[in-house]
Amino acid sequence: MAFNDLLLRTLNGEKTDRPPIWLMRQAGRYMKEYRDVRSKVSFLELCKTPELACEVVLQPIDAFGLDCAILFSDILVPIEPMGVNLDFKPAPYISNPVRTLADAERMRLVDPKTELKFVMDAIKLMISKLNVPLIGFSGAPFTLACYMIEGEGSKSFLEVKKLMHNNTKAYTTLMEKLTDNTISYLQAQVDCGCPVVQMFDTWAGLVSTYEYKEFIFPYVQRVAESVKGAHFIYFAKDSSSFYPMIKKLNCAALGVDWKTSLKQADAALEHKFVLQGNMDPALLFADKDTITKYANIILEEGKSLKGHIFNLGHGIMPQTPVENVKHLVDIVKGV
Ligand code: CP3
Repeated sequence: MAFNDLLLRTLNGEKTDRPPIWLMRQAGRYMKEYRDVRSKVSFLELCKTPELACEVVLQPIDAFGLDCAILFSDILVPIEPMGVNLDFKPAPYISNPVRTLADAERMRLVDPKTELKFVMDAIKLMISKLNVPLIGFSGAPFTLACYMIEGEGSKSFLEVKKLMHNNTKAYTTLMEKLTDNTISYLQAQVDCGCPVVQMFDTWAGLVSTYEYKEFIFPYVQRVAESVKGAHFIYFAKDSSSFYPMIKKLNCAALGVDWKTSLKQADAALEHKFVLQGNMDPALLFADKDTITKYANIILEEGKSLKGHIFNLGHGIMPQTPVENVKHLVDIVKGV
């Protein structure tokens, strides 16, 4: 089958007949094929075994005919060699969180080509099997710092805000290292052949605009400006109040969550970016007519953009009915 380059053409600014579609977290527990593989190995083993990671990457491509694949791993995989004890239960858990300057200073710079060789091997294997582009990814420095400081997910990430303000040196030491590591990790993925990389900033929306400006955005900017040779997508959840800053970012595309309409985002971002999004993942629990209705609203708004990549506004949920995923993809593809 011919290589499907719809995503790449959209990112290059070409007008296409329809937007490409992929879904954040498209490989995962809502698919029986994934659960079957996962029943035999732990999540981290799955991430560290290129043949198995490749198998689960192909599952949603084969089942739904999506226009691109995303590397199977987790944003937290590359922080393990920095010096934290990482576990998934299945939610992430770190038993030795970063709470002091000494903790931050102990964190290591990682050589991705050797210490994360299993990711590079997985990427090469995936690319050899796919006839769609493979998106590489990383967490953004702040979102990674959230897990490293808090030790687990949280509603308020109070430990993060405490460290940011009460021990700024510890916070910036950690953020600088995470930024260096993120750049070398994404660059290594590009060097292995990923034509697109996405950086996930899931928790950026937890801070004020002032804090985003001082404590988060400069690091995002440094990553976006340093990674060469691929299209860069930045996805920050709940970030519309930061758009006056984000519009200065040097990148190809921005992910938009479901709260802001694509048109609102495009106006605030002054039509500078290809936009990716933005159906509420909860809509995949609705009946097919409702899914069709909202997909059409998003498709229509997408036509006025510089370019549109259809996606959800956040990751697909584990209980999502598979037939609704198929229905959504068919609508976007016009079949
Ligand atoms: O999109 C894909 O198909 C690629 C794989 C991928 C995973 N995680 C696999 C995964 C990607 C891109 C991620 C990103 C990720 N991981 C983010 C950013 C995106 C987002 O959703 O906000 C974040 C914050 C994480 C951290 C993380 N990893 C959490 C909170 C969890 C637990 C989720 C839950 O619902 O329990 C994970 C584990 C994880 N990462 C799973 C998968 C398939 C489930 C693990 C399992 O099979 O048990």
